[in-house]
Amino acid sequence: MKKQRPLGNSGKNVTAIGLGAMPLSLNTRPDEATAMQVIAAFIGGGGNFIDTANVYCINDNDVGHNERLIHKALAKLGKLDEIIVATKGGLTRPKGGWETDGSPKWLRKSCEKSLKDLNTECIFLYQLHAPDSKVPLMESVGELARLKLEGKIKHIGLSNVNTQEIRTALSVTPILSVQNRCNVLEKKSFKNGVVDLCAKEGMVFIPHSPVGGHYDHVKLKDSKPIKKIADKHGVSVYQIALAWLLHKGDHILPIPGASKVSSITDSLKAVNVILGRDDIALLDQL
Ligand SMILES: NC(=O)c1ccc[n+]([C@@H]2O[C@H](COP(=O)([O-])OP(=O)(O)OC[C@H]3O[C@@H](n4cnc5c(N)ncnc54)[C@H](OP(=O)(O)O)[C@@H]3O)[C@@H](O)[C@H]2O)c1
Repeated sequence: MKKQRPLGNSGKNVTAIGLGAMPLSLNTRPDEATAMQVIAAFIGGGGNFIDTANVYCINDNDVGHNERLIHKALAKLGKLDEIIVATKGGLTRPKGGWETDGSPKWLRKSCEKSLKDLNTECIFLYQLHAPDSKVPLMESVGELARLKLEGKIKHIGLSNVNTQEIRTALSVTPILSVQNRCNVLEKKSFKNGVVDLCAKEGMVFIPHSPVGGHYDHVKLKDSKPIKKIADKHGVSVYQIALAWLLHKGDHILPIPGASKVSSITDSLKAVNVILGRDDIALLDQL
């Protein structure tokens, strides 16, 4: 299994496991010192791709928390130039809820704030967090294409999309990545053709919630087949879930979340797990 993977056609290579930084900024977030240790452990373990969003925060008064934290950690570690940070725009957090706003005006405002919070002149990968049913997708993606032309972002990504939405976006501008919820217990993006379309079009597929997400990750431990395979390999059920994704294609870049150092340290080891055909067949059926 390849431990370094091309980040689509961006010319950059990334480690096979990225860091999903969301748990470091929600209302269940750890203290800042622990959060910095999680980022340091990821980079110390060889990781070089971090996923964030302007709305990884507590509410609308806290927007940019995760981006500022990542910048602070990378600056402290002297790694600002080495680590690829991908962020997103297109949601809001009124009173701590999650709402979609894919209007060109909001996307521009969000991107310009992310540039400040990440303290950079150009965001390497800027993802539309989700299509907005109130705004034609072509308008949302069109604004991202304008931000790219202006040099504020280098590459455009999509999130929470189906194949039709990906094709619509591709008709407007090149797309580097697609990020959808996807894990061994939730295989929609495999079944509906999104993962295959990404491979065909040279895009990275970034499974979010790759071990089940904020609430459902505990389900891995309840799955007898996963537990059995994990015991056979002498690794955690989390590593099995991540290894299964990595075995599904070199264009797949899982971004496990962590608010504890032990979680990300364990997840990074998934690149060493070689699953047998029988393991994969069993996991495919779940
Ligand atoms: N685009 C979108 O709409 C969207 C939506 C959701 C998430 N995301 C992105 O995807 C990333 C991952 O999703 P997620 O953080 O929601 O869920 P996840 O990666 O499935 O992880 C959920 C939780 O599982 C625990 N965990 C992960 N690996 C572990 C390990 N090896 N051993 C023990 N526990 C482990 C962590 O708990 P602890 O916190 O206790 O360490 C983590 O917070 C997010 O951080 C975010 O960047 C994007």
